[in-house]
Formats: sequence, C-alpha cells, structure tokens
Amino acid sequence: MIQELIKFKKISDSRGELVAIEGGKSIPFDIQRIYYITQLNPSLPRGYHSHTDLKQVMICLRGSCKVILDNGKTRNEVLLNDCSSGLFLGENIWREMHSFTSDCIILVLANRFYDPSDYIRNYDDFLKHMKSMSNG
Ligand code: TYD
Repeated sequence: MIQELIKFKKISDSRGELVAIEGGKSIPFDIQRIYYITQLNPSLPRGYHSHTDLKQVMICLRGSCKVILDNGKTRNEVLLNDCSSGLFLGENIWREMHSFTSDCIILVLANRFYDPSDYIRNYDDFLKHMKSMSNG
C-alpha cells in the first residue's frame, strides 16, 4: 500500500467538533500553500498528474471522494470521507480523484508554492520519470 493516512485529533463537545493541524507537527512538513476544491462535478475526475518536488496532505472536509495513488508499480484506491484524516501525497505519486459526492469539499495543504513546471501531466512521461529515477 502506498497511501499514508494521517489521523488528526478531533476535539468534540456539545458545540461541535474542532480539528487543528500544525505544520511540522501533525503533518510532516511546513505548510506554504493551502487550497481547497469545491463545486465538484461527480462525473468529472481530477488530478491525473504527479509532482517531482511537492508534498501534500489532502483532507475531505465534507462528503466523500476516491483517490487513486500510483507509484508506477502499485496502484491503490483510498476513500476519503473523514475530515479528521489526511491523505499524505509525497513526491512522484500519480493521483486521480473521482466519485465526488455533490457536497464534497477537499482541502489540500502543501509544502511549496504553486509551480506549474513541477507537474507531470502525462502518464507515460510519469512512468518514464519513475524508470529513470530507479535507474539511478
Ligand atoms: P490542478 O492542479 O490541475 O487541479 P486538480 O489536480 O484538482 O485537477 O489545478 C487546476 C487549475 O488551478 C490549474 O489551472 C492550475 C490552477 N492552480 C493554481 O493556480 N494554484 C494552485 O495552487 C493549484 C493547485 C492549481
């Protein structure tokens, strides 16, 4: 299994539930960027890329979705439906997100600013990149 789920502490009382996330503590990097995805179309998958120099933690704040993680050798699918769990996505993981519920909200924490040049958006290029890395 290549996915790593990070469990956050949920502080619950009669008023509601609170989850706090601290960069470098509850997740394994300092947070430089946060983005969130809303108004997802259940029939339009997203992702289809990897990053060579980016760590992220993906949290489904509301609703649910499925995330496929692929390291070039193994493919796993994870259901995200718990706002107190974060899916760690390290470097060189091809990801595909799909099966969003219509209320789905995804929050992503990242350790780098947005950099379009860090994306690999073609699966064959991703496989070539993984092969070149394993060849040294
Ligand atoms: P993209 O990373 O392709 O989204 P997904 O992986 O969910 O399919 O990003 C969608 C668009 O948003 C694309 O035009 C790039 C832009 N974008 C930013 O400007 N800043 C960001 O931090 C991110 C993640 C995306």
